[in-house]
Amino acid sequence: MIGAVLVTRFAAQGWSVYATTRRRDRVDETHPYLDLSALGASFGAAPGDDLPKVDVVVLAAAVAGIGDCEENADASRQINVDGTLGVAKAMAARGAFVLLLSSDKVFDGAVPLRSRHDAPCPACAYGRQKADAEAGVLALGQRAAVLRLSKVLEPNLPLLNGWATTLANEEPITPFHDLYLAPVSVDLVARMVLQIATDRAQGIFHCTGAKDHSYEDLAHILAEQMHRNPGLIQPGSCHSINMPAAARPRYTSLEMTEEQSRWGITAPAFEATARAIMAGL
Ligand SMILES: NC(=O)c1ccc[n+]([C@@H]2O[C@H](COP(=O)([O-])OP(=O)(O)OC[C@H]3O[C@@H](n4cnc5c(N)ncnc54)[C@H](OP(=O)(O)O)[C@@H]3O)[C@@H](O)[C@H]2O)c1
Repeated sequence: MIGAVLVTRFAAQGWSVYATTRRRDRVDETHPYLDLSALGASFGAAPGDDLPKVDVVVLAAAVAGIGDCEENADASRQINVDGTLGVAKAMAARGAFVLLLSSDKVFDGAVPLRSRHDAPCPACAYGRQKADAEAGVLALGQRAAVLRLSKVLEPNLPLLNGWATTLANEEPITPFHDLYLAPVSVDLVARMVLQIATDRAQGIFHCTGAKDHSYEDLAHILAEQMHRNPGLIQPGSCHSINMPAAARPRYTSLEMTEEQSRWGITAPAFEATARAIMAGL
């Protein structure tokens, strides 16, 4: 989702872009083949390895589902840590600036607005993998960065479209009142990635909403925007579907003072992000 948006935004700014794919039928000159599950530690080291020379690498490919990482811990670690770091090291050795997309899940979600100076304390396999990938990328030195994201919303998300269709039919929806998000739009993510890439800004950066709200709050904004009866929102509990504790942290927001002082980018208000996304549904 994010990678596809980045391709168009970088191209619109005049960058030449390669977008890797693991699907053989999509490979062409600007879509080189790359399967992170099949990369060994020697990736890029063999004399015959023909890797493109690039200025910036954005590491967006991943197994991004908390449940997927929990259920397939070894296979997802190969992709999210070993394969990702294989690419990072090989491309850094060729002079590229490397940016890893990471997650608020490197923290346990017990407190809001974690600082970039706080030590990671992941509570799930996905978070542990991201924390290890972060450490490997940051160890590359001055020409490497990490951008931690909270929930990224964009108008094509199936959950939001499902809600919109159901509400349009005047039928009830059951958003969770006890599942929280501090969302950002994919537009803001793209803006920050472009900024970091352009400045070759080194270190850890955050991109999250200002405050955590519930999915029920999100549904109310949608119903209001669609002029639907708020009574159609019949909240449920994520405990009722036995969602694992690591997948329902109370807090996902991260502090963004560095981003504000460097680029004037502040954490967006929940309502502003939600309304902008809903308008595009
Ligand atoms: N979306 C969010 O809310 C969010 C929040 C925090 C952090 N992030 C991070 O942001 C990054 C992008 O997230 P996203 O939402 O855009 O994820 P996404 O839509 O699930 O896309 C992940 C991409 O990784 C590719 N991929 C999976 N396994 C691969 C492999 N073995 N080799 C090569 N490519 C592989 C997938 O390829 P196919 O298309 O072939 O399946 C897909 O294109 C991820 O690192 C994620 O952890 C996302």
